[in-house]
Amino acid sequence: MIFDPAWEAIHADRHWGSWPDEDLVRFVGRNYFRFHARHHFDFLDLGCGAGGNARFLATEGFSVTGIDGSKSAIERCFNWSTSKSKRWMVAPQFLVGDITKLPPREFDCIIDICSIQHLSRDDRKIAVEAAADALKPKGRMFAKMLHFASHGDLGAPDEPKAATVTSAEIHRIYSAFDFALFNTQYQRAHPRLGGVKQTIKHYLIEAVKR
Ligand SMILES: C[S@@+](CC[C@H](N)C(=O)[O-])C[C@H]1O[C@@H](n2cnc3c(N)ncnc32)[C@H](O)[C@@H]1O
Repeated sequence: MIFDPAWEAIHADRHWGSWPDEDLVRFVGRNYFRFHARHHFDFLDLGCGAGGNARFLATEGFSVTGIDGSKSAIERCFNWSTSKSKRWMVAPQFLVGDITKLPPREFDCIIDICSIQHLSRDDRKIAVEAAADALKPKGRMFAKMLHFASHGDLGAPDEPKAATVTSAEIHRIYSAFDFALFNTQYQRAHPRLGGVKQTIKHYLIEAVKR
C-alpha cells in the first residue's frame, strides 16, 4: 500500500480533524460511558489524523492508540499527549504507520472515522481484515464511510478524494463481523470552495467480531 503524500501536506499545513466526530461521541457514550475502570479498555484509532477522536477517548479515561501515515499529524498528537498539564492512568500512544498493517496487539474496540474510505478497493478489504485480526474475540468496530449517494466528499482541489462505498461493499469487506448499518446526512457550506452547499451522507457501521 502506498500512503498518499497529499495527507502529509495537509497535516503539515493545517489542523484537520482536531475535534471529535459527533457520531463517535454518541457511540462511545451509549456503549462505554458506564464503565468505571475505563483505562482497562483499549481503543485503536485508524487514521487518527490530528487526533480529535483519540483525544476525546483519552480525555474520557480510555486507553488509546492512534495510528496515521502522516508524521506531522502524529507529532501533533504526541505533543498534545506529552504536554506538562496531562496526567494519564495509561498514556495514549501515537504511531506513524499504515492502517493495513496493525501493531501485534489485541484491542477491545477499533474506530475508523473516514480513513479506510480513502484506500483503494483492495486495500479497504485488507484494512478491515487487519482490524478483525487486531481485535479481541467479540471486539467491536465503529466506522464511518462516505455513502455512495454522497457523490464523494467534493473537497477542495488539493484534498485527496475519498471513494464512496455501497452497502454491498461493506458486506464484502466486513465478512468477519456481525454488523448494523445506519445512515447520516448533513449539509455544509464548504469554506474552501467559496461556500458551495454540499449534502454529505455517510454510512455508520457498528460491528462485532464473530
Ligand atoms: C479524512 S482523514 C480522517 C482523520 C481522522 N480519522 C478524523 O476523523 O479527523 C483520513 C486520515 O487517514 C490517514 N491515512 C490515509 N491513508 C492511510 C494509511 N494507508 N495508513 C495510515 N493512515 C492513513 C490520513 O493521513 C488522514 O489523517
